[in-house]
Amino acid sequence: MRHLLAVSDLTRESALHLFQVAADLKQRLKAGHRVAPLAGRTLALIFEKPSLRTRVTFEVGVIQLGGRAVYLQGGEIGLGTRESVPDVARNLSRWVDGIVARVFAHSTVQTLAHEASIPVVNALSDFEHPCQALADFFTLWERGVDFTKMKLAWIGDGNNVCHSVVLLGAMLGARIAVACPPGYEPDAAVQARVRRDAPQFDLTEDAKAAATGADVIYTDTWISMGQETEREERLEAFSRYQVNDTILGFAKPSALVMHCLPAHRGEEITDAVLDGPRSIVLDQAENRLHAQKAVILELLGGSVDDA
Ligand code: CP
Ligand code: NVA
Repeated sequence: MRHLLAVSDLTRESALHLFQVAADLKQRLKAGHRVAPLAGRTLALIFEKPSLRTRVTFEVGVIQLGGRAVYLQGGEIGLGTRESVPDVARNLSRWVDGIVARVFAHSTVQTLAHEASIPVVNALSDFEHPCQALADFFTLWERGVDFTKMKLAWIGDGNNVCHSVVLLGAMLGARIAVACPPGYEPDAAVQARVRRDAPQFDLTEDAKAAATGADVIYTDTWISMGQETEREERLEAFSRYQVNDTILGFAKPSALVMHCLPAHRGEEITDAVLDGPRSIVLDQAENRLHAQKAVILELLGGSVDDA
């Protein structure tokens, strides 16, 4: 793996390897063992959009591995305005060891990766959020979930997080059901890959049908960053897709509820479900740290055994 721009940069084997490394890093951190395999190394973190989890976990993660992070707001460096995206990539390549970028257009991370001589990580684009999906399936993996025996139901908007979650879920052998209102389905190429890789793939407008018999129910905001002007039409379109106790009642009694966060309580998910006993959203958030540390180590060529 040279970059992590999309789930297609992973294989089933490399994802499972990253889960092992993440588990090792998590266990060492909890045991108080300090490792510094990235001493003297630096990451540039470019953010064109707001973030809590992604920024903190990359920044804290690289510090915990002995390195440093430089946070750059997209507006501050004028990515694509003050300076072209290729020129930013070429300059950063002379100073730092890796680039983590949260961008509006997926083509921006692709251009950064094409022009940089250092690894580039997609920290969310309009098309994918691969770090989120890795942390999510690591969260299930460490609970002992057998991916080949599980049904994952995605309920809501079929955009960036959905793409990465259903693509990685399919790659790992899970059955996938996606329920979206018309016009908000996953991208056609993503659907085709999920149909190819997953043992079963159902795309429906019926949230109850998707939830029926599910082991995992996953949702995300109905109004992604940058879509704020579409708020009223989206609230209307998604009104029948709230993850609430009624929907959860169609899933297995043991079903887990996942959300990438930030949650919009009372919109895509109710307080009762988000804060309820089936919710593992804070485990997902915690595991962003461990999974991304594994990604950084892999891309920067470090190993905890070097420490
Ligand atoms: N889930 C996620 O990426 O959260 P942030 O937008 O806060 O980084
Ligand atoms: N779909 C959301 C995910 C936030 C982590 C967005 O793009 O805003």
